[in-house]
Amino acid sequence: MKMDKLVSLCKRRGIIFQSSEIYGGLNGFWDYGPMGVELKRNIKEAWWLDMVTRHNELKAPEGAPEAYAMTGIDSSIIMHPQVWKCSGHYDLFSDLMIDCRESKRRYRYDQVRGRWVEAKSQRIFVATAAEPDEQEEDTRRRALKFFNLREKHADQLKWDDQSLSLVEVQDSSRVLGPDAKTLGTLTEPRAFNLIFQTHIGALADEQSAAFLRPETAQGIFVNFKNVLSSSRVRVPLGIAQIGKSFRNEITPRNFTFRSREFEQMEIEFFCHPSSSHSWYQYWRDRRMKWYTDLGLASERLRLREHTPEELSHYSVGTADIEYAFPFLAPGEFGELEGIAHRGDFDLRSHMEGKLDPRSRPLQVELGPDGKPKWRGSGKDLTYRDEISGERYTPHVIEPSAGVDRALLAFLCEAYTEDQAPDEGGKLEPRVVLKLHPRIAPLKAAIFPLVKHGGMSGVAREIYAVLKKHFSVSYDEKDSIGRRYRRQDEVGTPYCITVDGQTLEDNTVTIRDRDSLRQWRVKVDDCVEEVRRLAE
Ligand code: GAP
Repeated sequence: MKMDKLVSLCKRRGIIFQSSEIYGGLNGFWDYGPMGVELKRNIKEAWWLDMVTRHNELKAPEGAPEAYAMTGIDSSIIMHPQVWKCSGHYDLFSDLMIDCRESKRRYRYDQVRGRWVEAKSQRIFVATAAEPDEQEEDTRRRALKFFNLREKHADQLKWDDQSLSLVEVQDSSRVLGPDAKTLGTLTEPRAFNLIFQTHIGALADEQSAAFLRPETAQGIFVNFKNVLSSSRVRVPLGIAQIGKSFRNEITPRNFTFRSREFEQMEIEFFCHPSSSHSWYQYWRDRRMKWYTDLGLASERLRLREHTPEELSHYSVGTADIEYAFPFLAPGEFGELEGIAHRGDFDLRSHMEGKLDPRSRPLQVELGPDGKPKWRGSGKDLTYRDEISGERYTPHVIEPSAGVDRALLAFLCEAYTEDQAPDEGGKLEPRVVLKLHPRIAPLKAAIFPLVKHGGMSGVAREIYAVLKKHFSVSYDEKDSIGRRYRRQDEVGTPYCITVDGQTLEDNTVTIRDRDSLRQWRVKVDDCVEEVRRLAE
């Protein structure tokens, strides 16, 4: 599937729009349209129902070491600035970036690639920031220009076989920047903090600086004690949160994949240190199953364990759930969710002060004056087990998912081009989103076969009844075939048609989006039938 087809479907059918489009758009920001908002709500609702509401704390689910509690919070986006200093985001939450002195453009260091090429006795590295499928053409075109060669002399360019990341190139004086005409215009990489800063109150100075949260997780850590003391929950305990996060990404790209404003669905799972490894394995497998159950079952989804070199030293394991998005080069995968064993790093940082993640055992990072660089809250965030009497700092397993990335993966997986018969039985090409019914924006559409003859009155009555239970749509315009196509394109799993027979025996046809199978049910059974099929 070509990504541009999905992007254009999203715009055409009200799923995703570029933010502030009438003013030329704002890079890294996206708006969800009438269909997109339903899809997004359904994904978040499915996550919350499956992880929190429907979780039975009295019984250990399959694969879990024991029964556990689950609850949720909704914390503020702007929190005390000390939260981000102790969490490490203020100091460390950065990407390396490079600037081009000639074009004045800025790039993420690890996202610039290129190839070495030689011509006219000169060897240069042609860098590119283009999308993977355009990189080859971009570097070729710019190499020809640099060496002042015509297309017909392209064979004078002697290319190295392999494309490399700029990170692997030592001699920057021989690099042709992605938008430069001369060599050596790229600066050394510099750390760039991704946190969006704002100010609280009337004065915009150092004292009033505050931050838009770059993750929802910290809101959970700082409320750990509040949750324990206000609800009858005990460790092992998961606290869930869904909400907006903000990161000033240097190069937002690949549609909504890397945005500057996005939503996360995060769980901080608190457990005894001795069982944390089993809990890590449980959450890793549980979260992977959630995606497969909702339709990401193809070979494009994978669970990747981090190698020991990738792990923070306090972590016994981190795994990423990844999807082979169509905008990535073949064989590459993009992260949907990370499941990290975080030890007691976060709770201790908020108690004692920012810990130095490189220290062993973990110790508070000290400033030049020998005092903690960032002071913690000083509050006791340890837990006392009522039964054993043991007091300890719980370890944390963190399954952290992105709503927008999950939505994009579900869309990519669902996008299908196939053929369906028109009214005359002739096969016509169609575009269909084969979304799992649980997350489809609309559960059903109701059509009168024709507007007259009493059919539209009955269809409107059915619509009114179904609307009380599900998001549904009513359509009486155009031929029935065109109406089916409209619903297929937004992934509506069931179309209910009122026809001549309805007026005689009070039954309607239901058509299945994927199999195209049609069957009749009683009008009075429509709600139950859609519920059975779509929930
Ligand atoms: N609390 C841990 C944490 O935030 P992360 O790997 O930085 O970990 C978790 O983010 C998830 O949030 C990612 O797997 C991804 O789905 C989503 N995410 C992160 N940055 C994003 C961005 N710029 N745009 C869209 N989603 C993003």
